[in-house]
Amino acid sequence: MKKPSRKTPRRRVPPPPDWRRISRDNRELKEWKRRLSLLLDYGKKLSARKELDGLLHLLVDVACNVLRADRCTVFLLDKKAGELWSRVASGAPAIRVPSHKGIVGETVTHGRVINIHDAYEDPRFNPEVDKATGYHTRNLLTAPMRNNKGEIIGAFQVLNKRGGPFKRNDEEILAIFSSQAATAVENAQLYGELRAAAKDTIFRLAAAAEYKDLDTRNHLERVSRYCAILAEEIGMPSEWTQNLQLAAPMHDIGKLGVPDAILKKPDKLTDEEWSEMRRHPLYGADILKGADNELLRMSQRIALSHHEKWDGTGYPHGLKGDDIPLEARISTLADVFDALTSRRCYKPAYSVEESLRTIREGSGKHFDPALVEGFFRALPRVKQVMEIFADVPPVEPAHAPPPPVV
Ligand code: C2E
Ligand code: SIN
Ligand code: SIN
Ligand code: FE
Repeated sequence: MKKPSRKTPRRRVPPPPDWRRISRDNRELKEWKRRLSLLLDYGKKLSARKELDGLLHLLVDVACNVLRADRCTVFLLDKKAGELWSRVASGAPAIRVPSHKGIVGETVTHGRVINIHDAYEDPRFNPEVDKATGYHTRNLLTAPMRNNKGEIIGAFQVLNKRGGPFKRNDEEILAIFSSQAATAVENAQLYGELRAAAKDTIFRLAAAAEYKDLDTRNHLERVSRYCAILAEEIGMPSEWTQNLQLAAPMHDIGKLGVPDAILKKPDKLTDEEWSEMRRHPLYGADILKGADNELLRMSQRIALSHHEKWDGTGYPHGLKGDDIPLEARISTLADVFDALTSRRCYKPAYSVEESLRTIREGSGKHFDPALVEGFFRALPRVKQVMEIFADVPPVEPAHAPPPPVV
């Protein structure tokens, strides 16, 4: 055996490896790797989802997965009822609990993350929930959900971590999920409010353009819904269909530019009156022109082209077939069907059978044949809309009240 040369510097003997620590670090590293890959995957899926339900289900799934929890629930606060309700729950039926009780209650009341290692040992735990769901909670972690203003709107809860209670770093992760859920809920609420406001505004403006006040609202609702049915029937995406539902009621906004004497004339129109009437699509397009917003751009295309015909004999431009924007072709069919089945100042209401015959005969002439087919396929839904939004018959003259009984 050769002795080490004097010239080589003496190497320091490394300390013996701490196998236990290394193995623990290794396990933690693996766990973080697992979490990271789940989160990356989730990020991709998240950007593909827009509706609240899908978003929350995704959040709940990933939270369960990342935190190795058995169940996960998003509770929303119903302030008026003083309750928390499970907006989305993995593997559990929907529940409502008083908003001041239990761990969730404490979380929303005090805005704290609460980590309970042994539920039944904690006096704040509300065992009623387990009783109602037939579940056995061992450990749980609950984080408050706050809106943009910092107000508490609910709680995000995970139950029964596999292999022991939730840890400190689980709390941090849950806080992240909780804030994402809160953002999703708040955005959906704001979006819903905006759409409701837009709908109200649109219907009011469109109603102003209608020549007969009576039941205008119902007429607009029907046309809007017939359009949605047709769009769904030919497989258009839901966002497009939602826009169409709001854009279609504006189709006749250009009638604002047509004199009342023409609009309200109970008889046939003279040639001169008719040429004025036929300008209403141009007026409408002018009113709606130059908008950046896709909804308004769509309504402009509808206003301009809802009297074009599939065979090219319509107005104002005599467009033909696919040159007529799809949204306008759909609105045409919806509008004509509603005009046929309704009373107008110049015509009576026709029966559904008669109206359907006119639609059928117009296939390939007035209307896009693919849409006529879709319309007949969806007839049960069309009739439902007719019933729900039926015109109210004119009010009978009021009878004198009976004499008071003395
Ligand atoms: P509107 O009353 O909303 O009717 C929309 C479309 O439904 C009409 O577009 C037409 O394509 C269809 N339609 C309505 N009634 C009938 C019908 O009895 N038979 C058939 N086959 N189709 C019908 P159109 O013809 O381009 O008319 C556009 C607008 O001009 C009508 O909107 C209405 O406001 C007005 N108008 C049309 N004809 C008369 C009329 O004789 N008198 C008066 N006062 N207005 C009329
Ligand atoms: C609680 O928050 O006290 C009960 C929660 C549950 O078991 O879901
Ligand atoms: C479509 O453009 O998706 C379809 C159908 C039609 O032209 O009616
Ligand atoms: Fe019109």
